[in-house]
Amino acid sequence: MNKKGKAVMKDLMRRPRRNRAGTAIRALVRETRLGVEDLIYPLFVREGKGAPEAVESMPGVFRYSVSDLVKECKEVAALGIPAVAIFPCIKTEHKDAKGSYALSKKNVLFHAVKEVKAACPELLVITDVALDPYTDHGHDGILDAKGNDVANDATIAILQELAIREAKAGADLVAPSDMMDGRIGAIRSALDAAGFEKTGILSYAVKFASAMYGPFRDAVGSRKSGKPPIDKRGYQMDPANVREALLEAGLDEDEGADILMVKPAGHYLDVIRAVSEQTTLPVAAYQVSGEYSQIHAAAKLGWLSYEAARDESLLAIKRAGADMILTYFAKEVAKGLK
Ligand code: PBG
Repeated sequence: MNKKGKAVMKDLMRRPRRNRAGTAIRALVRETRLGVEDLIYPLFVREGKGAPEAVESMPGVFRYSVSDLVKECKEVAALGIPAVAIFPCIKTEHKDAKGSYALSKKNVLFHAVKEVKAACPELLVITDVALDPYTDHGHDGILDAKGNDVANDATIAILQELAIREAKAGADLVAPSDMMDGRIGAIRSALDAAGFEKTGILSYAVKFASAMYGPFRDAVGSRKSGKPPIDKRGYQMDPANVREALLEAGLDEDEGADILMVKPAGHYLDVIRAVSEQTTLPVAAYQVSGEYSQIHAAAKLGWLSYEAARDESLLAIKRAGADMILTYFAKEVAKGLK
């Protein structure tokens, strides 16, 4: 202030606030945009008929019968969302230590994929390649003889077959989420040998042993209630590591992945950035169940503004370098973007 009480900073050359002065100028200078075409919608399908079952820890998320899943996919496609990722929820009596049901003709996932592709041929269908929905212990693979470690190579042999059956059902992309060593190359060779050279691989290349998967495990029924959370640190990555993420991403690129994924997304924005700078492949990020449910929970308590927190979470993932985002918010966000 000068003596007359007037501001003295008149000759300030740089005033970044000029570019924030109103809606129009902010739109012009915006560096990152989220579009409907960036979104992949994860959906859960269950055996049997009847109304959709709500997943309690994921407001707005349901386990659908095959026919309701098809209805849902029609809506999703009409909104312009390019892809869905379908996860099966299998009855407890169909689970065993080896996840045998994965390869059964009855596996509801195969029926679901077939029906969805018939109803919405333009909608890309992505299927998970891992055994956790099918094993009674909830691990992504089969266990070794002592039962305390997931057997890498024996698991891969099953995953190869699962990927082929998913491709046969009509999956456009198979998505190995198991974090076994060497599975991308093995699955690529198996798909090619079976005549599915057009089926893509979206690799969960960098998947962390995260606390954020709890609600998803409720959705597919792989959470063991009353017990401490299942320990997947023998195959999923240590949240502390980013150089190891680059190792995993590089291996999967060399082994023939078409798209690399980082998961979870929000806690790992630096990893998304690092992977996107290293690879020439497209990069996907999975905003996982816990990220979704946290925002819902805080909003329910009145502690966060729901839509603002949701949209900021997605924009941040895009800004970090993700080309596409798997998110349970996809459908509602797509409606808003329309
Ligand atoms: C397992 C799988 C998980 C998710 C996708 N595939 C959970 C896990 O590794 O235990 C989590 C997705 C989410 O939390 O939304 N193959």
